[in-house]
Amino acid sequence: MRSYVTKMAGVTTLPPREEREAALAEAGYNVFNLDSENVFVDLLTDSGTGTMSDAQWAAMLEGDEAYAGSDSFDRLQAAVQDVMGFEQVVPTHQGRGAENVLYGTLVSEGDHVLNNTHFDTTRAHVAANGGVAVDCPVDSAESADEGNSFDGNFSVERAREHVDDVGADAVPVVVLTITNNSNAGQPVSVENTRAVREFADEIDATFVIDACRFAENAYFVREREGRSPSDGASDEAPSREPGYEDASIQAIAREQLGLADAVVMSGKKDGIANIGGFAAMRDPDLFEHCKQRAILYEGFPTYGGMAGRDLAALAVGLREAVELPYLEHRIGQVRELAGLLRDAEIPIVEPVGGHAVYVDAGAFFPAIPSTEFPGQALVCELYREGGVRAVELGSFAFPDTDRPEYVRLALPRRTYHREHIEHVAETVEAVFERRDEVSGYEIVDEPPIEELRHFSARLEPVAE
Ligand code: F0G
Repeated sequence: MRSYVTKMAGVTTLPPREEREAALAEAGYNVFNLDSENVFVDLLTDSGTGTMSDAQWAAMLEGDEAYAGSDSFDRLQAAVQDVMGFEQVVPTHQGRGAENVLYGTLVSEGDHVLNNTHFDTTRAHVAANGGVAVDCPVDSAESADEGNSFDGNFSVERAREHVDDVGADAVPVVVLTITNNSNAGQPVSVENTRAVREFADEIDATFVIDACRFAENAYFVREREGRSPSDGASDEAPSREPGYEDASIQAIAREQLGLADAVVMSGKKDGIANIGGFAAMRDPDLFEHCKQRAILYEGFPTYGGMAGRDLAALAVGLREAVELPYLEHRIGQVRELAGLLRDAEIPIVEPVGGHAVYVDAGAFFPAIPSTEFPGQALVCELYREGGVRAVELGSFAFPDTDRPEYVRLALPRRTYHREHIEHVAETVEAVFERRDEVSGYEIVDEPPIEELRHFSARLEPVAE
């Protein structure tokens, strides 16, 4: 069993209730506008908010800040090769930089990009290049029974239907996001990955894996996937034969990522770094094109928008992310929070994914209609009640879609302790007990780009 000792202490305090109330009103009931010093437990995201290890900090001191030919880049490249199986690496300042470099190279006006579920920045990059982003999630009701499912899978069946409509030539890229962040952080099986590979071959498309949380995904594969003798069935339940339980996380990651032509990676997630990312690919021509684009937008190809010390920290973090005891602790913490919420009968998405617990705010506040943003009401109440910052991923963040009213409680890596997790659960429970008194919200001021409104819009409680 692994646990972590703190080698550097940071302070977090819970401001008094009146101060929280004032801060929330001043923030226009949008927690993106809060100062972090007013937040007690910050579960806004798991991206770049984790705690680096002593080994990462030590590596930073040896960061090579050379503009070209940095030794720190060599270390990153070696880590990507060992852990993920890609030799050709284009470093970028973070995941969306990698998306710009890769999708800017692969996607043209009128192209369709198929993905199990596009993350927001992926969707935006497809659109920015004139493409159409199409989601092909599996229907979770069709997937395996509770606890053994891969609800993040890509539906090859839906993708085929789409290709029948638009033609294979219109689909140059197929993406698989592991784990599936926009679908409650659910994992994707190796079997499904193999089916997507075959599908991409069939339509002659480049197969990209968004590998932000590839190590967490491999943990689920190890835990629940049986190796199937008949590969290729996409939407079927995984078999119950002995599978990956004796495989190392690194071996699983390499098998799964080995099926892709390219990966985009945010080092802020399973790189356990505070900044950084990269794209990596097998085709030398694609590598050359991406490097040229990277010089334009990110930096010379041996630093790509990162300081040498950041490259060094990411190189070490990638190797730590595939250590089994690290993942047992990491996913164990997410499950600890889920367990406390389950005991309190809070409606959460089950089975629980890798980086966060998703609360179903629609079920939490059945009396608040989606036009009055039940998820945002919950986010506001969590802050008001316990200084906890979460994020709404429902009708406020995704206007004009019929997505469920999720609120994500994302756990930063190696940062919080049992006392914080208990505090979060108690906060959610306290709000649940007085849920009938909570009202919805309306937007009073919003930015011109509707897709980005949740980052800066201002709201007010709906008058009774
Ligand atoms: N792809 C996925 C699946 C992501 O979750 C993210 C970021 C990105 C790409 C972009 O990476 O932030 O380094 O530019 N997700 C964060 C989140 C922001 O809170 O889920 P980035």
